[in-house]
Amino acid sequence: MKKIAILTSGGDCSGMNATIRAVVRTALATGIEVIGVQKGFAGLVNNWMQPLTTRSVSGIVQRGGTMLQSARCLEMHDIGTRAKVVETLKRAGIEGLVLLGGDGSLRGAHALQALGVRIIAIPASIDNDIPYTDMSLGVDTALNNIRYAVDALKDTASSHDRAFVVETMGRDCGYLAVVSAIACGAEFALIPETPFDLDKICSALRKRFNEGRDNSIIMVAEGAGKAEQIAAEIKDRIGFETRVMVLGHYQRGGSPTTFDRLLGARFGVAAFERLIEGCSGEMVGLSCGGLQFTPLHDVLKAERKEIDAVVLKLARMLVN
Ligand code: F6P
Repeated sequence: MKKIAILTSGGDCSGMNATIRAVVRTALATGIEVIGVQKGFAGLVNNWMQPLTTRSVSGIVQRGGTMLQSARCLEMHDIGTRAKVVETLKRAGIEGLVLLGGDGSLRGAHALQALGVRIIAIPASIDNDIPYTDMSLGVDTALNNIRYAVDALKDTASSHDRAFVVETMGRDCGYLAVVSAIACGAEFALIPETPFDLDKICSALRKRFNEGRDNSIIMVAEGAGKAEQIAAEIKDRIGFETRVMVLGHYQRGGSPTTFDRLLGARFGVAAFERLIEGCSGEMVGLSCGGLQFTPLHDVLKAERKEIDAVVLKLARMLVN
């Protein structure tokens, strides 16, 4: 193999740059050229590509986002577009791809592999909803971003006897909300995986303030409801006014934690090595501290990833 390409696809996350750097440095050290594809699959469709050098990836490890930029590319659902991508890769002499992305991007990778493209995928999404990896890239940084925000909210909440409804991202997965609730000492966690009773939550909230507690944090995963709506329902039920904080895209950015930098480096080097060994159509994942490779086919056909039972147990014991 003489030339490979790397792209970041779907929602960005912190740690992508550490991975790009690891792939480029390792490849160049073994005499393999690396092409950086801009804006995910759209870059493959439109031929937005440029060679990456040691210099071009210096000074990026500490930066969030992705130096290659990212995009969601709906055209990849179209077989004609995929054929065009294969053609672009052939013409550019690219023999393998390393792709970083979430669920939708892994589907794109799988579809390209079916057309003969050699590809190794890296799970990168703050949602932590990708099966066959304990952690996806970017999750740890997102958790730390949330922790920072909630700790600050608690300070101001206590100064005013207030409750805050805090909405996290995560699409259909409540991982960010529930782990943050445990880590930040939140009082309630509303997640799509577990049914919740808003009447009970309202009574508990009322009781807490009657007992003299000066703050309450209600974490809501976006898949469980909109924070504004929950706040309005609380007001309707008990006349209690809360404040709302939708953390939104703030969760995705910022300097990656050491964990994400290291995970990005591990994933990047492992994906590169696997690619040059001649493997394809696999995703590298973290399993009990080690790395494992799983066929994309299995990753994509798996049921949705459950939140670890230990995390749910901790939440039951430590969060109301
Ligand atoms: O998948 C990552 C994620 O941040 C989800 O948590 C969220 O629902 C979605 O992407 C937001 O997408 P966009 O960046 O396109 O608004």
